Amino acid sequence: MNNNFSRRKFLGMSAAAAGASFAAKTVLLEPEPLLAGPVAASDRVRFGMIGVGMQGSGLLTQSIELPGIECAAACDLYDGRHTLAREITANPSLPVTRRYRELLDNKEIDCIVAAVPDHWHKQVVVDAVNAGKDIYCEKPMSHAPAEGIEMADAAKKNSRIVQIGSQRVSSLICAKAKELIAQGMLGDMMLVEGWLGRNDPTGAWEYPPPPDLSPATLDWDTWQGTAPKKAFDPYAFARWRCWKEYGTGVAGDLLVHLISGMMFMLGINEAPKQAMSIGGILRWKDGRNMPDVHATNYYYGDLPVYMRLNLGTEMPELYRFQGSKGILEVNEFGLSYTPQTGKDSAPSYYSQGFPHAMREAYEKKWRAENTPKLGEEPMPETISFKGPDYDDMKPHLWNFFQAVRSRKPVVEDAVFGHHAALACHMANESYFRKAAVRWDESSRSIKT
Ligand SMILES: NC(=O)c1ccc[n+]([C@@H]2O[C@H](COP(=O)([O-])OP(=O)(O)OC[C@H]3O[C@@H](n4cnc5c(N)ncnc54)[C@H](O)[C@@H]3O)[C@@H](O)[C@H]2O)c1
Repeated sequence: MNNNFSRRKFLGMSAAAAGASFAAKTVLLEPEPLLAGPVAASDRVRFGMIGVGMQGSGLLTQSIELPGIECAAACDLYDGRHTLAREITANPSLPVTRRYRELLDNKEIDCIVAAVPDHWHKQVVVDAVNAGKDIYCEKPMSHAPAEGIEMADAAKKNSRIVQIGSQRVSSLICAKAKELIAQGMLGDMMLVEGWLGRNDPTGAWEYPPPPDLSPATLDWDTWQGTAPKKAFDPYAFARWRCWKEYGTGVAGDLLVHLISGMMFMLGINEAPKQAMSIGGILRWKDGRNMPDVHATNYYYGDLPVYMRLNLGTEMPELYRFQGSKGILEVNEFGLSYTPQTGKDSAPSYYSQGFPHAMREAYEKKWRAENTPKLGEEPMPETISFKGPDYDDMKPHLWNFFQAVRSRKPVVEDAVFGHHAALACHMANESYFRKAAVRWDESSRSIKT
């Protein structure tokens, strides 16, 4: 993994390194290269867009705003999204197709950005790297563990750049948290918590199918890929996240962000040792087969990690890193560190069980040894930082396009993406098997 954090200069960190209160709380950042001057024409990167739906339309919009980045062609199985791609690029003659192979065979195209449903990720990535194209592919990397292995192997064999689209690994907020943790501010890590809750139909994926969707405007047969074939179903097209045949549940949709961000902040690049899930379809009984409440306990090495997703109650998305020296909370727009001394602040209340004279003597001694001098009482403080939205996709796309130019590693390669996706597959397997599961590296499979 390439952490571009070293480019950024922070003030006040030496005090943090000592685990003391901060001498200076101002953070100065060098201007992001993203905002730096014009890119030479020779550095132009032309990409092909595969999948121009909810996420793909955002990726396309943001990519063409980056210096030197051009969309050469777009592909989607639904014709309405050909129109959309031409609208976004303001190019009425942008080449569009239903066949992504045409983009892979096009020598004018340097790389691919793909935002297709989860059940298509593996095939698109494997075909792209076999055709010699670098690819940015949306998260979760795979729809099943074996797919992730095939994808990582194909990327390695072809020496192609694969960036998986969990954008918070490119965020300044997570980079800041990563630095604070690496400096030991939290002491020994005890427990990591993360959670997210939503409470509305859109948050629960009850999306409205496009009104003109039909077998005439959509290649429904191809859309289904290797999933069991069924009659044309506009709800499956729009709400594919609800079914395991196409999606990966709240685990692949939302948990993967919490996991990839946590892995990045803690410097982890491996699958969890164990996962144990609970959950159910408690609120959205609309025919889905993936849980709408899903909580998972993990062991990452010996570190307990507890992640909770809930589509029936709104809760702000938050991480809480709990350490022997304090708590670090990380959310979408900032982080705050509250130190803890780990020491008693008063005589132990156990002394209430001492006879009077004994308790008095104990408390007197304790106070003599521990009470700070007048005027030297500690003033505990909470340190907070605000930053740009950690769900901003632009820095992550930029990291990919820069890698396409420089051939330097991306921040979230196929191995990292595979490990993050494995945590989600383990959460799903544990939920369906109603048992703790582990990743078995020798057989490369999930076992109970
Ligand atoms: N990183 C994030 O924050 C984030 C946010 C939303 C979605 N996503 C991910 O983006 C991906 C797409 O999600 P979405 O909500 O945009 O889905 P979507 O259904 O809105 O769009 C997917 C598009 O892909 C097209 N498609 C499917 N198979 C294809 C194929 N073989 N060839 C060409 N086009 C094909 C579909 O026709 C559709 O237009 C998913 O993997 C999802 O997890 C990531």
